[in-house]
Amino acid sequence: MTTLDTLERETLAAIAAAGDDAALEAVRIAALGKKGAISELLKSLGGMSPEERKTQGPLINGLKERVTAALAEKKAAFEALALDRQLQSERVDVTLPLPAESEGRVHPVSQALDEIIAIFCDMGFAVAEGPDIETDDHNFTKLNIPADHPARQMHDTFYMARQADGSQPVLRTHTSPVQVRTMLSQQPPIRIIVPGRVYRCDSDQTHTPMFHQVEGLVIDETTHMGNLKWVLEEFCRAFFEVDAVRMRFRPSYFPFTEPSAEVDIQCDRRGDEIRFGEGKDWLEILGCGMVHPNVLTMCGIDPSRYQGFAFGMGIDRVAMLKYGIPDLRAFFQSDLRWLKHYGFSALDVPTLAGGLSK
Ligand code: FA5
Ligand code: MG
Repeated sequence: MTTLDTLERETLAAIAAAGDDAALEAVRIAALGKKGAISELLKSLGGMSPEERKTQGPLINGLKERVTAALAEKKAAFEALALDRQLQSERVDVTLPLPAESEGRVHPVSQALDEIIAIFCDMGFAVAEGPDIETDDHNFTKLNIPADHPARQMHDTFYMARQADGSQPVLRTHTSPVQVRTMLSQQPPIRIIVPGRVYRCDSDQTHTPMFHQVEGLVIDETTHMGNLKWVLEEFCRAFFEVDAVRMRFRPSYFPFTEPSAEVDIQCDRRGDEIRFGEGKDWLEILGCGMVHPNVLTMCGIDPSRYQGFAFGMGIDRVAMLKYGIPDLRAFFQSDLRWLKHYGFSALDVPTLAGGLSK
């Protein structure tokens, strides 16, 4: 047996015996490091006669290649082992019951929002979003509410500081400016919902200064008021999880729709309770109508060809009705006892197939 064979056998045995990265690295240095045995052999090629080099060269290089490959293989094995160990140590048994101390709850507004998105996405709507701080132009002017229009007062707007260029941004008073943003950036057919926060200087049992709306917008060549009514009725049946919801369409006025309506849900407000579907009271949940031709024109859509409907629904309002929460202001007081009582388990993700809130 030649010295080369012996060196190879010993080096491969040392690699096989290496128990960890450090041991493997020591073998590598002994063989292939600057002063390693194989490196020295390679250096000795320079002092050989041409004939000798012809026979020794391939032998030494072959040895180097095999040792290099064995080192790489062992290193990969160590890495796989380390990953296995890590996966073992981070294993989570998802079938275990929740620990007793887990008190995190999903807020009723988040729950309602997830349910609303599930229902409208099933009907073929896409979800769009826009900024909370809006330009006056998007929040009012392009919605057919010019400066000095009395409807600006209807909204109890929070104005931001005036900018250097004279403009004055607002905290958006509704989600309707996202209608404008959408129509300015895409051509019909359009079918979107827009959930988000909105702000008004307003506070009582059914009004809070920050609340949530979900806007709906459908624009194409044939959509009419009947389609709007069907969509809203189907939505309410799915959301309230009953066969029929008592709702009324009340004629109303919005500058950006014509005709316009507001929708109320029948309920019973007695003392500390609110229940939907019974009683003599009505709670307004949304405003809606056919998009005004002036709005279409201002957003670059030809009203002689396109038409459609829009609605803006109060998410907090439908949540209070569905879950029987009597006062909206409590939604935003961050009282843990309230959240424990009205909140939802984080593991119950609402889907139409799996049940929304059950
Ligand atoms: C609007 O905001 C219109 N942008 C809705 C609309 C959209 C009409 C598209 C036509 C077409 P309104 O101010 O009525 O309308 O508000 C809509 C809903 O938001 C109300 O029905 C109510 O459910 C909810 N809402 C209004 N103010 C508050 C508040 N302060 N707190 C909680 N919910 C509110
Ligand atoms: Mg209203």
